[in-house]
Amino acid sequence: MTGLLEPRAIGRGLTRRDGPAKVTGTAPYAYEHPVEAPLYCHPVQASIARGRCLRISGVEAEALDGVRALITPFTAERLADTDDAELAVLQDCEIPFRGRVIGLVLAESSETARHAAELVDVEYETDPFAAELIVDDPGLYQPEKVNPNFPTDTSEGDLDTASAVTVDQTYTTAMYHNNPLEPHTTMALWDDGVLTLWDSTQSVHSVRSTVAKTFGLPADRVRVICPYLGGGFGSKGMPHANVVLAALAARTVPGRPVKLALTRQQMFSLAGYRTPTIQRVRLGADRDGRLESLRMDVVEQTSRIKEFAEQTAAPARMMYAARNRSTSHRLARLDVPVPSWMRAPGECPGMFGPEAAMDELAEALGVDPIDLRVRNEPERDPETGLPFSSRHLVECLRTGAERFGWSSRRGGRRDGPWLVGSGVAASVYPAKRMPGSSATIRFGKGRYAVEIGAADLGTGAWTILPQIAADALDVPVDSVDIRIGDTDLPQATVAGGSTGTASWGSAVVAAAEVFRDKYGTDPGDGDEAQAGTPKKPADKQYSMYGFGAQFAEVRVDADTGEVRVSRLHGTFAVGRIVNPVTARSQLLGGMTMGLSMALHENSVLDPRFGHVVNHDLAEYHIATNADVEDLRADWLDETDPHLNPMGSKGIGEIGIVGTAAAIANAVHQATGVRVRDLPITLDKLL
Ligand code: MOS
Repeated sequence: MTGLLEPRAIGRGLTRRDGPAKVTGTAPYAYEHPVEAPLYCHPVQASIARGRCLRISGVEAEALDGVRALITPFTAERLADTDDAELAVLQDCEIPFRGRVIGLVLAESSETARHAAELVDVEYETDPFAAELIVDDPGLYQPEKVNPNFPTDTSEGDLDTASAVTVDQTYTTAMYHNNPLEPHTTMALWDDGVLTLWDSTQSVHSVRSTVAKTFGLPADRVRVICPYLGGGFGSKGMPHANVVLAALAARTVPGRPVKLALTRQQMFSLAGYRTPTIQRVRLGADRDGRLESLRMDVVEQTSRIKEFAEQTAAPARMMYAARNRSTSHRLARLDVPVPSWMRAPGECPGMFGPEAAMDELAEALGVDPIDLRVRNEPERDPETGLPFSSRHLVECLRTGAERFGWSSRRGGRRDGPWLVGSGVAASVYPAKRMPGSSATIRFGKGRYAVEIGAADLGTGAWTILPQIAADALDVPVDSVDIRIGDTDLPQATVAGGSTGTASWGSAVVAAAEVFRDKYGTDPGDGDEAQAGTPKKPADKQYSMYGFGAQFAEVRVDADTGEVRVSRLHGTFAVGRIVNPVTARSQLLGGMTMGLSMALHENSVLDPRFGHVVNHDLAEYHIATNADVEDLRADWLDETDPHLNPMGSKGIGEIGIVGTAAAIANAVHQATGVRVRDLPITLDKLL
C-alpha cells in the first residue's frame, strides 16, 4: 500500500468532541430527539418457549384511558419481506422462543402502554421445547459456514501423532448478554410516504436497507438518524425486532411520531447475546514444548428461526505453529432467542479454551507460559500460508512481562488471607477494513466539513475522523468539522468488527485526495469532493491481525474463595494509534469487559421455562469500578503499512480477547485449582 499519512493530528490525544454535549445532556439520543406529541409503544411478549397463540384479547388493555391501539398478529400490516424470521414480528402466531413479541400496545404515555401490555390476555397452545445447550445434544449439526464466511471444519496433517506431552480438556464459556447503557430504542415517523427512524444503531445505512426491504419501500423513502449512541457492543450492529415494531406502529398513525424503548429485561430476549460455548481443546507437544498437534472442537447454540454460527475456533487456526491441526464447529438449534454479535465474536470465547490449555501445557512441561508461546510463534499464518502484515505478539509478551514484573513471578504466594497468583494469555483480533463507505469533504468560510454516515458508539469517531481528515488535507484539525450518523450523509459501513476507523478513515482520506487534486490548497466556498474506500485491501497478500498480551494478578481469599483482580495489564501491537485518549479507553473497556466475563457475567437459563432468569442489572453482574483495581493498557510503536493510509488496526474488540484466560491462569497459580468453566465464581474454588 502506498501513501501512509504523515501523522500530525493523528497520534494526538485530543479529547472527545462529543463529550461536552453528552455530559451536559444536550446530545440527542434516539429516544430523546424532540418531537411533537409522540405516542409510546410497549411490546407484549410470549410467556411460553414454544407453541402458538390461539387468541389474544385486548379488551381490558384497550379500556385503559390513553390506549390508542393493540397491534397483534391478527391485525398487523403484512411485511413485504419475511425472510429474516427474527424481524418478521407480528406476522403469524407461532412462538419460537420465550419473549417473542406477540403484540404491541400504542398509548399516549409510556406508563399507560406498559400497563396495558400487562393486561393483554393470551391463550397459548404449547409444544415441547429445548432451550439448554448440552454437549451431546442429538440434534447437533454442522452449519455450512461459520461467521462471517469461514469453513466450519478444518484439518491438516496427521492428528493421530503421539506426543510426549498432551493436554485434553473441555472448557466452557457462559451465555452473555450485551448490556450497553442506552437500551435499544427507536423513534419512528411515517409522514408523506417517508419513514424516518431515529434509531440507536451501529449502522444507519444497514438499518435503512433492512427496513426498506422488510417494508418493500425504496431506500430513498427511509431515513435513519443516529448521531450519538450509548454503546452497543455489537447488539446494535444489525437491526432487531424493536426497529420493525416501531415502524409498524408508526405506519398506523401517519404524521405522528412513535417511541419504543426496550426495557432492560426485554433486552435479554430481543437484542441478541453471545452463545454459550463448549470447547474441547487437545494439544500435543514434544519435550521442548513445540506443538505437534492442536485440535479444537466447539459446540454452541443457535436459534430455531435463524442461524448464527459464531466462529469460535477461528483464532486457534492461526495463532500457533502446529503442523497438525484440526478445528470444528457444531451447533444446537434451540428454542431460544437469536444469538448475535457481542464484542469480539469468535475471538473472545475462542481464545479462552486454547489460552487456558496453553497454560496447562506449560505447567505439564515445566516451562514458562511466555516461553511456550514464543517457541510456537509461526513465521507465516499457519492456516493460509500468507505472511503477516505485521505480527508482534512476542514483543507484546516480552514488553508486557517487563512492565508487569513477570520475571518475579514464581509460583503462587500467600499474603495474609490472600492467595496471590499471576497469569498471562495472548490476545488477537483481525485487522480488516470493509469496502463500501464513502465520504464528502466540503469547504466554506475557511472551514472544512467531513460528512459520512458513520456511527460513534462512544468510541471516538467524532474525534478521530477529523484528525484523519486534517492530516489528509494537511490543515489544522480545528479547522475540520464532522457530520456523522445520518443516511442523508454518504454511505458508511457498520461500526463493528473493529473496522470503523480503517473503513471510514480510508474513505475520508480518498475524499481528501480528490478534494486536493481538484482545488489545491486554496479552495473556495462551496468546493466539495466525494470518494469511497478504495476497493483493494491487501487481504489476499497478507494475514492481518492485531496482537496483544494480557497479564493478570489475582488475590483469592483463602477462606471465602472471593477472587479480586488486583492488577490487569495489557500490552498491544495494534498499528498506529490515531488518538491515545480514545484508544486507551477502548482497550481498557475491553479488558474490563473481559474481567467481567471471567468473574461476573453469566446469563442463567432456566431450562424448564427457556428464559434467562437474571435478566436485569441487579442480578446479571457486570464489573463495577470497585471490581477494577490496577488496570493498564499500553501499546508498542507499530505502524502497519499494508492496511490503510493511517497505518492503524482496529482496537474496539481486542481488549476483551484473552483477558478471561489470563485471569483463569492466574487463579490457578494462586489456588492450584483449574477452573475451566466461566465465570470463576467462588463455589468453584472451595
Ligand atoms: Mo462488534 S461485536 O463487531 O460491534
